[in-house]
Formats: sequence, C-alpha cells, structure tokens
Amino acid sequence: MFVRDLYKLPVGAPFSGYFVIEHVEIKRHRTGEPFLRLVLSDKTGTFTALWWKPPKDADLSIFRKGDVVFISGSIEYFNGQLQPKLSEIRVASPGEYNPQKFICETKFPIEEQFTVLLEIIDSVENPYLKRLLESFFYDDKFVEKFLKTPAGKTIHHACIGGLLEHTLGVVEICETVSRRYKSIDRDLLITAAILHDVGKVHEYSVGISIDRTTEGILLGHLYMSCEMVAFKIAEIPDFPKSLKTKLLHCILSHHGEYEHGSPKKPKTLEAVTLAYADALDSRVKGFEEFVERELGSGKGWTKRHFAFEVPIFFDGEIKYGEEDGKEESSNL
Ligand SMILES: [Fe+2]
Ligand SMILES: [Fe+2]
Repeated sequence: MFVRDLYKLPVGAPFSGYFVIEHVEIKRHRTGEPFLRLVLSDKTGTFTALWWKPPKDADLSIFRKGDVVFISGSIEYFNGQLQPKLSEIRVASPGEYNPQKFICETKFPIEEQFTVLLEIIDSVENPYLKRLLESFFYDDKFVEKFLKTPAGKTIHHACIGGLLEHTLGVVEICETVSRRYKSIDRDLLITAAILHDVGKVHEYSVGISIDRTTEGILLGHLYMSCEMVAFKIAEIPDFPKSLKTKLLHCILSHHGEYEHGSPKKPKTLEAVTLAYADALDSRVKGFEEFVERELGSGKGWTKRHFAFEVPIFFDGEIKYGEEDGKEESSNL
C-alpha cells in the first residue's frame, strides 16, 4: 500500500504497509505515558502517524530516522491532515519489502541521456568553457555520482537520475531561447545550465530514501556548485577572469529571488534566462509529479498545490518513456 492509497480510504478504515521513517519523536500524554509521533513516507508521499497507546514494556527508542517499518492501524484525520493511529509498528528486515517502493528512478534512459549531455558539451565552442565542462564530465568518479543524484528531496525530480533529467531539461530550454535571442552568449548559458546544480551531488545522499547531507543543509547547492566550478577553473591556465565572474554569477543567482535562496538576483542576460529556465523545468516537472502522487492514473482536481497555491486540474495522461525522451533530446 502506497501513501497515496491511504488518502483514498475512509476514516476508521484499517490499513497496513511498509514505510520509511523521516522523523520520529517520543512524546508524552498528560498522564506522563509515552507515545510516538512519526513522519512516514514512500515515493508517493509523506504523512504523520501516532502510535498512541504503545504496550507498557515497548522500547520506543529503537525507532530511528531512515528505518523501514511495518505498520498497521486505522485512518484518522486531524485538522484536515491525514494522521492515522497505529496499532502496531515494528522495524522491518531487509528482504521483507521492495526497496523500489521508497525511491524511484528517472523514467528516461540514464546512459542515453548522458550521451546527449556529452554531445552538447562537444558543441560548446569556447575552449575555456569546453575544457571546464570536460573536467567535470570526463571524470568517471564525478559522473558516477552525478548520474545517481536526485535533483530534489520532495519538490521535483526526487529520484535517482533526477539531476541528469533536470539538467537536460534546463539545457534544452536554454538552447531554444538562445536560438531565438541572438544577444545571448550561447556557450556561457549552456555551460551555466549544465553546471548550475552540480553541487547537488554533495547536497543529497541516496539510501533507502533521499536525504539532505549536513553539508547540503549548512551550505546549499548554489554555494557548493560555485565552489566546485571555481576550483576546476583554477586548474585551467589563463581562464578569463570576466568569463569566470559571469559564469559564477549565473550559478549563484539561478534561484532568481533572495527568498528562494539566491544570494544575488540575476543581473545578466544569461543569468536571467537560466533562472527562468530552471524555474520552468522544475515547475512543469513538479506539476507532473504532484498529479501522479495525488491522482495516480486518475483525472480531475488535486488538493491545493503548495507552490501554485491553488488546486490543479489534469485530465490528460502523464507521458514519459524512451521514445519521448529520445526524440526530444535528438533535437538538441
Ligand atoms: Fe538549484
Ligand atoms: Fe536547477
């Protein structure tokens, strides 16, 4: 049973299943008796659950963030939020559950998408930018990590290979815009698009579910991407200083607004284009993922979307797949 299936059950209905612990707290009733409050998830969503009346001799400290647990209980809501009451919870042993329930993989073929990325790198004419891109993507150790990294924990592209999929999505939008608007420095924009989120390889860790690393929480991927790029630039003799400044500005400002984590707002044509391309790719993908989580293969209205701030409507079919991915990519 997936998280999204729980929302379809009526109040009081019994359920059971395997979920991963995102957060766990031992709390106390007014009487002093302990109970557990858990945030549980799988690849389709997250919910809060209460183990309201654990047996007196139960050791509540054995439950840890990242554990997969088997739970059973009944559907309850609190303040409009799903909050089931559990009658049973135990740590599951590996082999009992399918790990693919917890973390998904991009629907696009990773190897083929990576080949497309290499072709785009090959199309960059500026020798400094090309050398910079090669210093990342001809490095097997970095590539191995890059291909597995998600682009997010929950919001968009939260799956293995998500960073590659998102990067190609942003690159493709930038390519289209630069074909139309000739004032854009295409090589600078494409390089910035390819490198804008490379810091995510250190921001996220992938285990049974996706998590943010301490470094990711403390520094964030905008800074970490800049640091990685600046480090590689330092190894390239005579890399033009102004090109470095413009490239780092694109990366540092790609979230567009201070409140979205950018320490600088975009102030060049390439930086403005990148920020919109990044937002466009993540919003469209986030829309698709939200529809999939909320409606499954159904059609109609979802609940309120946290970013769009309205319920969203979809009566089509979410399409992925090799053929779609291949065709679109070959146009790059
Ligand atoms: Fe980003
Ligand atoms: Fe991004």
